[in-house]
Amino acid sequence: MSMTKKAIHKPTAAEDELTTRRRFLTWLSGVGLVGSAIISIFSNLIFIKPRATYGEPNRFPIGRPEEFPPGTRISIDDKRVCIVREGNRLAAISTTCTHLGCIVAASETGFACPCHGSRFDQDGNVTGGPAPKPLPWYQVNLAPNGELEVDKDTEVPPGTYITV
Ligand code: FES
Repeated sequence: MSMTKKAIHKPTAAEDELTTRRRFLTWLSGVGLVGSAIISIFSNLIFIKPRATYGEPNRFPIGRPEEFPPGTRISIDDKRVCIVREGNRLAAISTTCTHLGCIVAASETGFACPCHGSRFDQDGNVTGGPAPKPLPWYQVNLAPNGELEVDKDTEVPPGTYITV
């Protein structure tokens, strides 16, 4: 009966160094995998989140009725609307030119576009220039808090005023 003896192998310094390098490379590739997984999760979450950019709200407050004295036509350029007050009646007319969208200015006779010369009467009807259609009128509401609100999503027939 023969007994085999196994020789116990003691690693040499070169083998120790090789093992350490192997462990380091294993650790490094693990870090790389985890890092790329985290980056891909974040990029997927960013991709899934809707990238909607919301514009200006089309329904907005413009102030109280007394801020628009009878007989005035006050343009609010950043809202592209002109508030017309006649006596105790009030309306909102668009100041966006129906030709190519420039802001029209209120004039003695109505509205005039500085871009290509379209002209509109006091009610927004085209009286000259290339504009293809009249300026729209918008719904105006008097909110419970006493503020006037213009709703640019709701067009109303020209000549529609609210009583304030
Ligand atoms: S944009 Fe007003 S006339 Fe052209």
